[in-house]
Amino acid sequence: MLNDVERVLITEQEIAEKVKEIGEKITNDYQGEQLLIVTILKGSVVFAADLLRQIKIPVEIDFMCLSSYGCDSKSSGVVRIVKDLNQPIEGKNVLIIEDILDSGNTLSHLTKLLSTRNPKSVKIVTLLDKPERRTAPVEVTYKGFTIPDEFVVGYGLDYNEKYRNIPFVGVLKREVYE
Ligand code: IMP
Ligand code: MG
Repeated sequence: MLNDVERVLITEQEIAEKVKEIGEKITNDYQGEQLLIVTILKGSVVFAADLLRQIKIPVEIDFMCLSSYGCDSKSSGVVRIVKDLNQPIEGKNVLIIEDILDSGNTLSHLTKLLSTRNPKSVKIVTLLDKPERRTAPVEVTYKGFTIPDEFVVGYGLDYNEKYRNIPFVGVLKREVYE
């Protein structure tokens, strides 16, 4: 598995420090508010598991699964809901946890959709951002790392459902997917 990784882009320690920092910001910003954390399956589960434990106010959690193949959108046109939230979000502060913001297609669709359900607010936290690839505008409140336009795996991110359990973020060797 590790042989398929060309190089480490973000180490375990760098991720842990960033996650703690983002957790502190969220804790401060939502003080005294109700917060529903929505994790997008499957890529965001590792980030969500760590981030949740750095948020020191009471939260509720729920999950959504988007798109047609498995539970990850691969930047292609239409975003379909495979698994919706288990509860109404009317009047709630919603914070969406995403692993990586690429074209922006997934999150742009999702924020529009959730906004029609009359929440108090909808904000986004993403671990990674590839701004060079953006085609749909998305407003992100909390961002971990801005990365170059390279295909990355690990810390929840996959290629063909593999590599999610690598503890760091690494660049996949081109020969693996070409
Ligand atoms: P977007 O709709 O183009 O922003 O796509 C976001 C989704 O594409 C992410 O949630 C990932 O599932 C997937 N994705 C985009 N870039 C990468 C990458 O470098 N590695 C793994 N998955 C990626
Ligand atoms: Mg994903």
